[in-house]
Amino acid sequence: MSLFQIKERIDTLVKELNGHNYNYYVLAQPTISDFEFDKKLAELAELEKQYPEYQDPDSPTQKIGGDITKEFKTVRHKWPMLSLGNTYNEQDLREFDERVRKAIGDRFEYVCELKFDGLSLSLTYENGKLTRAVTRGDGTQGDDVTANARTIQTIPKIIRGNGYPEMFEIRGEVFMHKPAFDRLNSERIENNEVPYANPRNFASGTLKMQDSSEVAKRPLDCFLYFLYTDKRLYNTHWESLLAVKNWGFHICEHTKLCTDISEVLDFVHLWEEKRFDLSYDIDGIVIKVNNFSQQQELGFTAKSPRWAISYKYKAQEVETVLEKVTYQVGRTGAVTPVANLKPVLLAGTTVKRATLHNANEISRLGLHEGDTVLVEKGGEIIPKIIAVNTIKRRAGAAAISYPEVCPECGSNLVRKEGEAVHYCPNDEACPPQIVGKMQHFISRKAMNIEGLGQETIDTFYKKGLIEHISDLYTLHEKEDQLKQLDRFGEKSISNMLEGIERSKQMPFEKVLFGLGIRYVGETVAKKLAGHFRNIDSLMSASLEELRSAEEIGERIAESLVEYFQGPRHIQQINELKRHGLQFESAEQTVELQSTKLDGLSFIISGVFENYSRDELKDIIEANGGKILSSISAKLNYLVAGDNMGPSKLEKATKLKIPLISDIELLEMLK
Ligand code: IVH
Repeated sequence: MSLFQIKERIDTLVKELNGHNYNYYVLAQPTISDFEFDKKLAELAELEKQYPEYQDPDSPTQKIGGDITKEFKTVRHKWPMLSLGNTYNEQDLREFDERVRKAIGDRFEYVCELKFDGLSLSLTYENGKLTRAVTRGDGTQGDDVTANARTIQTIPKIIRGNGYPEMFEIRGEVFMHKPAFDRLNSERIENNEVPYANPRNFASGTLKMQDSSEVAKRPLDCFLYFLYTDKRLYNTHWESLLAVKNWGFHICEHTKLCTDISEVLDFVHLWEEKRFDLSYDIDGIVIKVNNFSQQQELGFTAKSPRWAISYKYKAQEVETVLEKVTYQVGRTGAVTPVANLKPVLLAGTTVKRATLHNANEISRLGLHEGDTVLVEKGGEIIPKIIAVNTIKRRAGAAAISYPEVCPECGSNLVRKEGEAVHYCPNDEACPPQIVGKMQHFISRKAMNIEGLGQETIDTFYKKGLIEHISDLYTLHEKEDQLKQLDRFGEKSISNMLEGIERSKQMPFEKVLFGLGIRYVGETVAKKLAGHFRNIDSLMSASLEELRSAEEIGERIAESLVEYFQGPRHIQQINELKRHGLQFESAEQTVELQSTKLDGLSFIISGVFENYSRDELKDIIEANGGKILSSISAKLNYLVAGDNMGPSKLEKATKLKIPLISDIELLEMLK
């Protein structure tokens, strides 16, 4: 393959695999097998290894499914992590009970537990301390996620009490409570990030993040459900659960000791209804023979224990009628089709709407007007249409056709190559985009303007009081008009105006995030503000300069360049500047630690094992050194890490600029 073909192959694989990740993690609808996926991923990883210069920061080898990385150490499980046999009805469960009785007689008990819908984790403790946390992986080996597991509050880092063995393993399920999921997922939507389809995906995405400090911000919980020790300490599973509870582990309070199968069935039926009242998702019940000797007697099949089984609840589904399909336009212009349904009771709530994701989904279902559809609510918060009952279709019903123009402003919709989503390109005059952008600007994570709410923005827009973000800063000139609005007392107006005035002091990174540039989320805005320091250097940065900033990939760089090419965007920025908003990072008063690097200039490039580029930059500046933005003969040192761009290397070599490592830099300070 020529270099050109290699680059093209890498680009194609990146695009394709990212699409599959989206289908898998977000839509929970994979379209290829795991095997196929892994094969392509391996091909990509190999090409990237050989041609690191073509590695894309958005490559799925770096990030899987948004936040997941494959950079964890693989660890073999001491005891394999098995799965459970499944049953779906009373008959299956009675047959399981028969098999058990045939093997061990009539004198035994069951422990019934909820089947938590998360991801399983195996924790190792040595001398009372958590030493390792490993995911299930393929059952024989998994990922070492110890650093991340340590951030989970309910996982004890040190065992309480005594009586625990020198070494033991304990297994359980990591999950996220539904209210936390709802809150964090709406924040993701607000930040223009792809939302997770359900709490399980969110928990799994979080546990496999590279940055543990980010994991710590996301509240995960963990129920433990099985203890492994070299020597048997207890006679029954129930006793072991009581013990580990005293050692400080989180054990689900609904676990129940049952004396026979009819008690088990009562438990199964009880939770079939009550599960919707729990703050977390369960997808069934796990039934375990209580006595360890009896468990041993029953033994295992190749994949699962004969002493335990799971009863899986069916995803709840119900038929209803599609009333119409409407199209929502978000603040970025993304158009989402929504199925408006005849209200129907499902999984404890009344369902009126279901998401249709995009045009592909509508054609996959072959949806027609007035169709009778089957709606399912599994782990997903938003119900989805899984099938159409074509027998009930009205004769002559028209197929649902995706609109060609924006339902809000009439502009022709566009669909970028390789993307499933349609966009309305009219970001300057399409009402939901304008309102959405202003709502984003005032939101808590952006400018956090007190006294001004999301609905108020909508009202002000409809009354013609504001049309652009900058109009917020002229509202004080319109007090008379404001006073005439319902529900606007003098006090609330003055609170709001004070809030707006105060927002002029918000730091540059918040303003930048508030502008709502596609793909510029909170973290990216922070990185950009830190790197470029002010809006003018950011606006004049080339694609390559943008990409050289930490964590800024091709997609973000392109989006920034495109944004700053819009004359209206520039006009807005100028208006906001005029009103006194912060477009410059506050001068960091770097406390000079030494003057050892006085008069020396540096460029930092590549990735370092022990420091981020920003940290190295701080170290250099704190010791009197200067950071340059491009390689020239004036440069004294190039601090070079791994995966440095080949063009930089070439230029530095040509100009005979010494390359030093991060360690050598620190040596200079000694
Ligand atoms: S016991 C050999 N108990 O279900 C015993 N598993 O299909 C293995 N799970 O991988 C597991 N809640 O991730 C057990 N109360 C519970 C569970 C539970 C959820 C998951 C676990 C396991 C899968 C087995």
